[in-house]
Amino acid sequence: MPSFYITTAIDYANGSPHLGHAYEKVLTDVIARFRRQMGDRVHFLTGVDEHGQKVQASAKRQGVAPQQFVDEVSAEFRALLPRLNIANDDFIRTTEPRHKQVVRAVLQQLFDKGEIYQAEYTGFYSTRQEQFLQEKDRLPDGTWPELFGEVTEIVESNYFFKLRQYQAWLVEFYERNPDFIFPSFRQKQVLEFLKEPLNDLCISRPKERLEWGIPLPFDEGYVTYVWFDALLNYYSAVADRPDLWREVHHVIGKDILVPPHAVYWPIMLHAAGLSLPKGIIAHGWWLQRGAKMSKSTGIALNPLDLVAEFGADAFRYFLMREMNVGQDSDFTREQFLVRYNSELANNLGNLVNRTLNMTTRFAGGVLPAAEGAEELEQHLHALWAKTRDEFIPLCEGHQFHTALERAMFFLTETNAYIEKRAPWKLGKSAEARDQALLRTSLATMAEALRLAVALIQHVTPDTTGKINAVLGYTPGAVWRDELNWGARLNGAKVAPALVLFPRPAPPAKP
Ligand code: ME8
Ligand code: MG
Repeated sequence: MPSFYITTAIDYANGSPHLGHAYEKVLTDVIARFRRQMGDRVHFLTGVDEHGQKVQASAKRQGVAPQQFVDEVSAEFRALLPRLNIANDDFIRTTEPRHKQVVRAVLQQLFDKGEIYQAEYTGFYSTRQEQFLQEKDRLPDGTWPELFGEVTEIVESNYFFKLRQYQAWLVEFYERNPDFIFPSFRQKQVLEFLKEPLNDLCISRPKERLEWGIPLPFDEGYVTYVWFDALLNYYSAVADRPDLWREVHHVIGKDILVPPHAVYWPIMLHAAGLSLPKGIIAHGWWLQRGAKMSKSTGIALNPLDLVAEFGADAFRYFLMREMNVGQDSDFTREQFLVRYNSELANNLGNLVNRTLNMTTRFAGGVLPAAEGAEELEQHLHALWAKTRDEFIPLCEGHQFHTALERAMFFLTETNAYIEKRAPWKLGKSAEARDQALLRTSLATMAEALRLAVALIQHVTPDTTGKINAVLGYTPGAVWRDELNWGARLNGAKVAPALVLFPRPAPPAKP
């Protein structure tokens, strides 16, 4: 059984989770569930980034100790996961001993190898982005772009990691691995970035300025800063599992690709003698009216509100259906409602209702066997084979939005099939041929429903489970075997009804 280790970014524990954080978890969970059902032994890690300036500052503002502050915020991030139907295998906090221990060991190893040195540093520093800026970051008028927030000039002695000496190696690595980053246009941006000479990376802060971090093992007057701490979580969580480490894939947002994940991280691993990730998926941003949702801009949507109103699966479905992984997408409630109503309530919900109603009404609630296949059935069988055969490679290529579109089309066509067969008319006829067609139509719609929900179960795990239950069906262990058109529901006893996607309450009148 091949291993597949997948991680999300670890979220800063300095504010509540918003829709962008929820999206990344859902996307990663969808990939993890997909790989699991394809037969991989999956290990899915997510967690929180608990050190740093911003956390220290937020704790201070609230008048609590940083540890207490992160305990509370991290609990909130963690509690979000089951609410989103996220099936992670591990959750890491960077304040845990297992993490700090590994960070210190790696730093000591690199220091002993001469990869880290001390030097005086003068630079312009952005607290918001937690990075030193370069002259080329300035706007033509000499000011700093808005995205950096407040920028201050800092002079201090610090520790540096020798990035620069690995620049040529890294360029070669990317040339040898053209598919390392998804989507591929982002890899071109990395190579573009690597055309400029790299600076060595400042990895420390003096304790007087920042206490809330992991002390450097070779100089306790300093803590390690941001990326050495945060990036190593992926490794510290599985430091005793080399089988998993060899198969690591990262899912992150585009804002932390270049330079952290695409430049610092591979060089850190290479310098430490550790193998490199298998790949990085860089997703885009959820926007509202064109602006990025984020804690610092204050534009944020609480994912729990949507989950409370529509359920986790509808939320997951929308995120996966709407966003082309790698691109940005504007979130609007209107668009959410359009997809909820037309695709989930009408298309899928209708098929569920029809199947249960008509089986109850015309067959005493027991699904009959199909009796042959005429042109209408054959058309649906052929469409199913095509849908399934396209769906899997689309998911393998992270094209979930298109994959779901195909699944929806299959459901639309199944509903169209029911219109054409009109079982409600067949049910009124005493003719043997009509009765046979009625049985065939019931078997066909139920089987199409079973197949469609099996196909999308990594996106809608609860819904798929509920529908299987009302169909009186227990799926087998091998997902791919579930995807063949067959007669698995013959004789199954169905429930009379299931409310899946209730109409949302109309907005309250002001
Ligand atoms: O960057 N849309 O934490 P973070 C989509 N701690 N994704 C978004 C988003 C949005 N509007 N806003 C944020 C950090 N994200 C570091 C990571 S990893 C070793 C350390 C994504 O809380 C963002 O792109 O600012 C990132 O991948 C994740 O949420 C955490 O962001
Ligand atoms: Mg951020």
